[in-house]
Amino acid sequence: MDNRPIGMFDSGVGGLTVYKEIKKAMPNEKIIYLGDTKNFPYGSKSKQSIIDLSRRNIEFLLNYNVKMIIIACGTATSQALEEMKEIYKVPIIGIIQPTIEYIKSKENLKSIGIIATRGTIRSNSWEKNLKKSIDKVIVYNKECPLLAPMAEEGWIDNQIAKLTIHEYLKDFPKIDALILGCTHYPLFKKIIKDQMPETEIIDTGEKLANSLLKNKINKSDEKEKEDEIFLTDTECNFINVSYKLLGKSIKINKAIV
Ligand code: DGL
Repeated sequence: MDNRPIGMFDSGVGGLTVYKEIKKAMPNEKIIYLGDTKNFPYGSKSKQSIIDLSRRNIEFLLNYNVKMIIIACGTATSQALEEMKEIYKVPIIGIIQPTIEYIKSKENLKSIGIIATRGTIRSNSWEKNLKKSIDKVIVYNKECPLLAPMAEEGWIDNQIAKLTIHEYLKDFPKIDALILGCTHYPLFKKIIKDQMPETEIIDTGEKLANSLLKNKINKSDEKEKEDEIFLTDTECNFINVSYKLLGKSIKINKAIV
């Protein structure tokens, strides 16, 4: 048993979609969550900026004696995970590998679409990793730069969200699965599913949580510990959007980074 908390970070509210899945799978785990709202969006930044921000986020989380770090952000996973693993001894995982493992285990998933931020698509990380692990896989990429800002704003279930998503999805051919390659996108899962009813919609947070369960991380056996949520800037809609997602109010702390 290891009762130390798990540290997680994202640029904002999106990582809470991963948080939600981890809490569902491993309710005893205490989580320290950092939302870097001051530097949102990550999707339009350079690789070097994402590396610098990821480093700073990890340094912040290490002050809380975390047993592992989850990069609950597709943009930071695709552009900084390898670099962070070289710098830090603490185990660090991102959203790509657990999702690839899942797809690899399913014989029927051979044509795969990815929607993600501009930086993630530019990095080509999903396509490279899919092609490395899965024979004859066909990959279609689409950057969707408006979706994460809309999610931060709480525009996750209105007409604008439906039209924007339609615009981004309309050119996809028939595919077996669509990866939500940005952790903000599960907030739009219902609209996406309605527009692609025959496609399996892959929520990376769910795959990450399942993989942690299977790999038997050193779990905590203490119950009812309160998670701690930190934001680098509190002037945002985080409380409202997190309420829509989690169905409960959360207490926010200002992060001093
Ligand atoms: N949630 C993030 C991701 O998974 C970042 C979105 C952004 O900050 O642009 O890519």
